[in-house]
Amino acid sequence: MNTVSIITRKRDGYELSRDEIKYIVDGYTSGSVPDYQMSAFLMAVYFRGMNKRETVDLTDIMRVSGDIVDLSGIRGVKVDKHSTGGVGDKTTLIVGPVAAACGVPVAKMSGRGLGFTGGTVDKLESIPGFRTSIEREVFMDLVNRNGIAVIGQTGHIAPADKKIYALRDVTGTVENLSLITSSIMSKKLAAGSDAILLDVKCGSGAFMKTREDAEKLAEMMVEIGNSAGRETIALITDMRQPLGNAIGNSLEVFEAIDVLKGQGPEDITQLSVTLAGYMIYLGKKARAPREGIMMAMQAIEDGSALEKFRTLVSGQGGDPDITEVSGLMPASRIKKDIKAKRSGYVTGLDAMRVGLASQHAGAGREEKDDEIDLSAGNILKKKLGDKDQCGDVLCTVCGNDELRVLAAEKEMNSVFEVNAAVREVPDLIKGIVDRTSADR
Ligand code: URA
Repeated sequence: MNTVSIITRKRDGYELSRDEIKYIVDGYTSGSVPDYQMSAFLMAVYFRGMNKRETVDLTDIMRVSGDIVDLSGIRGVKVDKHSTGGVGDKTTLIVGPVAAACGVPVAKMSGRGLGFTGGTVDKLESIPGFRTSIEREVFMDLVNRNGIAVIGQTGHIAPADKKIYALRDVTGTVENLSLITSSIMSKKLAAGSDAILLDVKCGSGAFMKTREDAEKLAEMMVEIGNSAGRETIALITDMRQPLGNAIGNSLEVFEAIDVLKGQGPEDITQLSVTLAGYMIYLGKKARAPREGIMMAMQAIEDGSALEKFRTLVSGQGGDPDITEVSGLMPASRIKKDIKAKRSGYVTGLDAMRVGLASQHAGAGREEKDDEIDLSAGNILKKKLGDKDQCGDVLCTVCGNDELRVLAAEKEMNSVFEVNAAVREVPDLIKGIVDRTSADR
């Protein structure tokens, strides 16, 4: 076996054996296969695809390339929630406390990340004092005592994927079903949870632009999760416009608190309650998703979810009073309103461009080691389908650096499309892939 023959066989459309996939993946991870050969291989996979058997093998080979996390020291059924990524997606900050309040142990490993805003870790670290770099034993103890903890992801989980994903990012080979499936599922399966809930985003702000592609991705990930012995369910959700109104690290924490108080925007509240309901169901605390959703709504209404959030914050070094006292969180110095130039209905609000504007303001990283401005970002005042009068505020750009804010303003000035007639607003939840039995 040699690397060139594996590349040419995939280039010519042949099915690869497990040994061939292992040879090239392990070789690349250890350094014996160079970037240029792996790039050629990934491009061949991009165009020729992989069948289910090859995708399962690739997932498994990357899964065992590093640490396999053992969460058996945590009592109860551990459910991991993963989103394929979207603009304004702060659901982990809401769904975690809601599910924990309903008795599901939440042991969340999260990352920072490149992109429009930071990852969950950055968002939580915008809370002064909050630490996510904690020892694994401390993390497990916090989950057993408080029902919830969040730890920053280490580089030891699926290192093969880490290296390959970085290469895909710069070789135009990210958007392939088998490559995305194996990348996400290798990490999820190595992370030690008993069940997995996936939020597969679809639309301009997501990897999957069309519903058909999002459905195929969801089906494939659910099949791989279930066949690895982890109950897996996927929701397919809209990412044509940002989720909620806040995009930016501390801005998203404020919005998450509003949702936990029952005062958040409708779309993010609806999605969070649905995701939490499915988590409660997968965590065996409800007999059906519907029952889980009712329990999630109740936990928001009776304040127990907000109390869990406060426990999470105080357990990891932050001040829980951020939920009640303004001024304890970082706030931006500069705020600029973007105003409507005509009256009508918002008919276009491209998620990707709002994300870019937030990144320009300083909310996200362009390079891995960039500093981010934790208080920068955008607050949307109008969403798709909303009516506006000429001069109404459509959005507020927040930041601390004049030039950055100017760049964000420039982007946001042309993001809103306003027309005389209202257009169809996309459904938020577009589909559910659930192969579990409701009457277990
Ligand atoms: N997220 C991942 O972790 N991998 C992908 O390939 C795409 C999104």
